[in-house]
Amino acid sequence: MPPLGYYPLAMNKENLGVGCFEPTKKAEQYVLKVLRSGRLTYGPFIQRFERKFARAHDSKYAVMVNSGTSALRIAFACLKEVEGWKDGDEVLVPTITFVATVNTIISNGLKPVFVDVDPRTYNIDPKKIEEKITKRTRAIVPVHMMGQPCDMAPIMKLVKKHKLKVVEDSCETMFTKDRGQVVGSFGDISCFSTYIAHLIIAGVGGLAVTSNPKYAEVLRSLANHGRDNIYISIDDDDNKKGKLFKQIIARRFRFVRPGYSFRVTEFEGALGCAALETAPGMMKVRKRNGTYLTKHLKHLENYIQLPWFPAHSNHAFMMYPIVVQKGSGIDKQDLVNYLEERGIETRDLMPLINQPYLKKLYKLKESDYPVAEWINGNGFYIGCHQKIGLPELAYIVRTFSEYFKKWEKKHNVSAKKR
Ligand SMILES: Cc1ncc(COP(=O)(O)O)c(C=O)c1O
Repeated sequence: MPPLGYYPLAMNKENLGVGCFEPTKKAEQYVLKVLRSGRLTYGPFIQRFERKFARAHDSKYAVMVNSGTSALRIAFACLKEVEGWKDGDEVLVPTITFVATVNTIISNGLKPVFVDVDPRTYNIDPKKIEEKITKRTRAIVPVHMMGQPCDMAPIMKLVKKHKLKVVEDSCETMFTKDRGQVVGSFGDISCFSTYIAHLIIAGVGGLAVTSNPKYAEVLRSLANHGRDNIYISIDDDDNKKGKLFKQIIARRFRFVRPGYSFRVTEFEGALGCAALETAPGMMKVRKRNGTYLTKHLKHLENYIQLPWFPAHSNHAFMMYPIVVQKGSGIDKQDLVNYLEERGIETRDLMPLINQPYLKKLYKLKESDYPVAEWINGNGFYIGCHQKIGLPELAYIVRTFSEYFKKWEKKHNVSAKKR
């Protein structure tokens, strides 16, 4: 454990985690408003959140559900139904992502086909996509990892050429652009998460976003037990008259497809609305934090690879990913233990193809995906959120530097040789 007086005075140790939640005055006010209104089901806050979120991602519709996983689940179900996909049809996914990306493909009866990732961005490598396309490929899932958009131009070129659908898994990235176009607006359907430690936090929650009215209708129905969309909210029969009112009455309890109960309450909608209002400030602080870490850890780049993004893109720094360099002699687990013992929380960098059930199900060999194999053994991430201030950043840099100084001493490596 670090000695007494190790932490800088102004630092708050609680802020060294991978995520944070800010209970702002606005959040308190909105949640209280819900409580006092007595209206918990799909109402003004969820509708406002959906409208504003869709607009911020250059899309026409958003359907708020109870998780990013649910958003993905209904996205694939919607495309399967509307586009007439068959069981066993293939969906291309990156080798580095959270398991939910793949679980929701499998649970829809589809087959994930893995494409290795780019070694600098950890996002799907556009150069490796075409060799995986077969007659049964129906879609591709660009996952914008850790806050960094995928290289969308070459991906969209292939999508056009092979007539594929695109489901963006943007659970880790919001508001961020590649070549001037915002994430969420490239895909046929795009999925976001508002779970703890993400960019917008509503407690639980997620959104499926689209500009296609047919998809929007099916997504909403799927999230609501497969209901006929004529009656989704308790306001839908207000002020209705004549033939339409009679139709609503007749179809209020009609189900047109097998669906799910993926709804949220107005509480999540209220938290989402409050978080959206402070999003620009939050994004600015994350950018500052990411830039600071990269600048001040640069002297360690022979040991650890830091985030990088091309000039045409940007980074939302939902997290700050780090991968131990090949041949550096550094033991990732030893480094991670050192950080954790000093209060800096870490997580593995989303290893996927070495997960026991996937290995068994698809007979996966890590060595077939060399970039993922390297990341699985050497990658991790730390927090980069808006509660991390300059004292915490300085502490993180100092802790990294100390680790490598001690390592060099132990291994008789002079700092000049780095
Ligand atoms: C890339 C990715 N996809 C999907 C999800 C699932 O989101 P949720 O936890 O809201 O279900 C996550 C969550 O962390 C994620 O990182």
